Formats: sequence, structure tokens, C-alpha cells
Amino acid sequence: MTGVLGVPWSHGAVRRADGAVEVGGVDVRDLAAEHGTPAYVLDEADFRARARGYRTAFATAFAEVGTGVDVYYAGKALLTVAVARWAREEGLRVDTASGGELAVALRAGVPGAEIGLHGNNKSDAEIAAALDAGVGRIIVDSLVEVDRVAALAAARGVVAPVMVRVTTGVHAGGHEYISTAHEDQKFGLSVSAGPTGGDSPAMQALLAVVARPELHLLGIHSHIGSQILDPAGFEAAARVVLRLRADLADRTGVLVDEVDLGGGYGIAYLPGEVPLEEDRIAKDVASAVAAICAEHGTPLPRISIEPGRAIVGPAGLTLYTVGTVKPVVLDDGRVRTYVSVDGGMSDNIRPALYGADYHAELVGRSSDAEPVLARVVGKHCESGDVVVHEVMLPGDVRAGDLLAVAATGAYGRSMASNYNLLTRPPVVAVSGGASRVLVRRETTDDLLALDLG
Ligand code: LLP
Repeated sequence: MTGVLGVPWSHGAVRRADGAVEVGGVDVRDLAAEHGTPAYVLDEADFRARARGYRTAFATAFAEVGTGVDVYYAGKALLTVAVARWAREEGLRVDTASGGELAVALRAGVPGAEIGLHGNNKSDAEIAAALDAGVGRIIVDSLVEVDRVAALAAARGVVAPVMVRVTTGVHAGGHEYISTAHEDQKFGLSVSAGPTGGDSPAMQALLAVVARPELHLLGIHSHIGSQILDPAGFEAAARVVLRLRADLADRTGVLVDEVDLGGGYGIAYLPGEVPLEEDRIAKDVASAVAAICAEHGTPLPRISIEPGRAIVGPAGLTLYTVGTVKPVVLDDGRVRTYVSVDGGMSDNIRPALYGADYHAELVGRSSDAEPVLARVVGKHCESGDVVVHEVMLPGDVRAGDLLAVAATGAYGRSMASNYNLLTRPPVVAVSGGASRVLVRRETTDDLLALDLG
């Protein structure tokens, strides 16, 4: 079959008449020859289109109800200097979760005022770096952090712009490890009263920020989870946050200007899966926010959102070379073909960590061979080193074939490791028929240089 590969691949992934796939106008065989495998391949036009898509969808939907939106690209999904620049050029701001991500955003030339800093356990050095860079918002995650940010701001003679991250009790998202707003986890401050009653931790933190002249309370932040495919959770969380905003105004007269509804918009990983559609979700959330504010009789806040995966996930694929191919007879008599590739859990931990499913295809050639049930595995010394649990591949799959895994742009490279002292693959951007290395491949010398003997 020739033509656009479609979901879950990037917009620019096309199977040509000669059977090979090209991305961003570049033949994957040329990518493999020039950059080696494994390699993360990023379709720049796809990233930009999705960034624009989110910005436009939310700006339009919220303009209709009378307020504005800032879209922060969540750098934890994948942050390189070029990626941060693309986000900015498409009108997005950048959300960072550590001093390292902050440093990359700054190197990319993103103005401090357009950067947010998150973290449940920020170091003094990270908070200081954020203040020195003049970040637009520090999202505080605990009561003690209120004092720490205030002290560091006082030492610099600045007023720190702060949001308070609250947990709304809304449980959403793919896997327990990536749903973040239920109570029994480390993030944010609960809106429910503690065991002894009284003000909720969230309210206590808001009151503490209001009382501090070194802090300016910008607003309230809620992130409910990741890989969310049911939009109901966003509205439920907005309801809780907007009530808290109204309660704070009743108590203190301070009606905060902003509400951040976080990221978490789910994408398609498999053919046939239906991702959250940004126009629809934007409209639904905007009308819910407007209705809830009307109930409270409060003016609408400015809204911000923080999508990561939905911007960069589908833009990326991982290109591997097939090595060992091994048929294994299963207990039920079926045969599963184990297809080993030259990477694995060090370049994509998500199947092992979350049981995440992916889709793979042979991309260097087409084949008329009968498809077989295959499992794509890596080269690590661990049987859980699975890249794709189950996929049909042509029965003549063999060593030397190029195999691509779709939708690896988010949380692939950013969660990569050096397990078994494998070197991390490069990030290669493709656009308009040309490729460019954004992050070079690690070498064994890089690893040896870290080891001081
Ligand atoms: N904002 C905050 C405060 C977050 O904690 C996150 C993700 C995001 C935004 C972006 O979420 P996204 O739009 O990308 O879903 N490693 C996991 C995902 C962890 C997400 C952590 N927080 C995975 O590979 O699925």
C-alpha cells in the first residue's frame, strides 16, 4: 500500500511506490545510512502543526466565552533547544519540570517570562535559577515550598509570581503512575480537608501565598493525569478549581487572575485509535469554565494548559534495524516471532514501565509475505525488554530490515537510560526533504568520560 501511513504515524510519514517509507520528505533508508540506528526521528512540520492546532483551538474556544489562553508546551515530553524554539515560534510558552529543562528553554532563547517551573521537590538552586531568569510562574507544590520561594525571592528583592498546584481528587489517565490528581500520591495540595478538619492544604497554601509580600499569587493549577482520552475529567477538575478560586475570593477578596488546567491530552498509539480532538476538547472545556464561573458569579480567569504528549508524541518515530529473528512456540500451539532490534527499553521504557502498546512496521521495503504474529524486543539483558508487545509483521522479516515504531516522540528520549551501557540514540529532525541532528548520538567515550575510575 502506498500513500500516507495515517494514524498513529506523523502527518509526514508516507509509503512510496518502491515500498520504502519517507518522513518529512526523507527516505528512512537515507536516514539510517546517514545517522545510524536506532534513531529518534522527529517530523518538524507535524510538531508545528499540532502546536498551532492546540493554540488555535483553545484561543478560539476561549475567545468565544470571553477570555484568553496561554498554551505551555510541557518540555518533560521531549525538550531540546530546537524543539523549544519550534514551540515558541508557534506561539507556545514552555513548561519546565527541573533546572535542566529550564536551562534548555533558556538556551533556546525562550524569555523567562514565558517559562513556568514545576516540581514537587525543587531544590533551592532550581528556584533561584528560575527567579534569576525571571520566570513567569513558579508552581508551588507544598506548604514548605511557599516559605522557600518567599525566602529566595526576598534575598533577591523580587516578587515571585506563583501558582499553587492543587489536587482535585479527579482520577484520570492511562496508568496509575501517570494519573496525578487523586489523593494518594506526591503531587500538589489537596482541596479536601485534612484528617483534623479545618482548611484544606490547598486553601492553606493559597492563604499563605496571599499573606506573603514576596509572592504574587497568579492563580491555581491543576493537572489530573496523562494520556487522558475521556474529556470529562478536565471539566470535573475545572469545577473544583473554580470553586476554590471563588472560595478564596470570599475569604480574602483576592480573585486570582489565572487557572491552569494542566496537560494530559491523549494520543493514538495504535491504528484505529481515536485521540482527543483539540477543537472539541477546547470547546467543551471553554463552555464548562464559562458555565461554572457564571454559577459562582465570578469573571472568567485567563486559562492556561500544558500539553506535552499531544504535541510531540505523534511527531516522533523510532527507527531500528532488525537483528535476530526467532520463532517461539507458545503454550497454545501458536507461534510468536520474536524480532530483536538494536535498541529497546533504554530508548523506550514505556512498554516495560506502563505496559504501553505501540505499533511497528517494516519501513525499508514492502513485502507480500503472509503476516505473522510478532513481538518486537530489544537487546537488553532482561526478558521484560519489549518494544512492541504484539504486532503483525510480514513473515519474511529478517536481519537488516528497517523497522519503525510509531508515536514515540513523547517520553521516549526524555526517559531514555544507559541500561547495559547502551548509548542513547540521536534525535534527528526531518523537514522539507532534509534531515538535521538535534541531539547527537552518545558514544561509548561519552560514557567512559563520566567514569572517573
Ligand atoms: N503538566 C504537568 C504539571 C505534568 O505533570 C505533565 C505530565 C504535563 C503537564 C504534560 O502531560 P502530557 O500532556 O504530556 O500528558 N512518563 C509518562 C507521562 C508522565 C507525565 C507526567 N506529567 C508517560 O510516558 O506516559
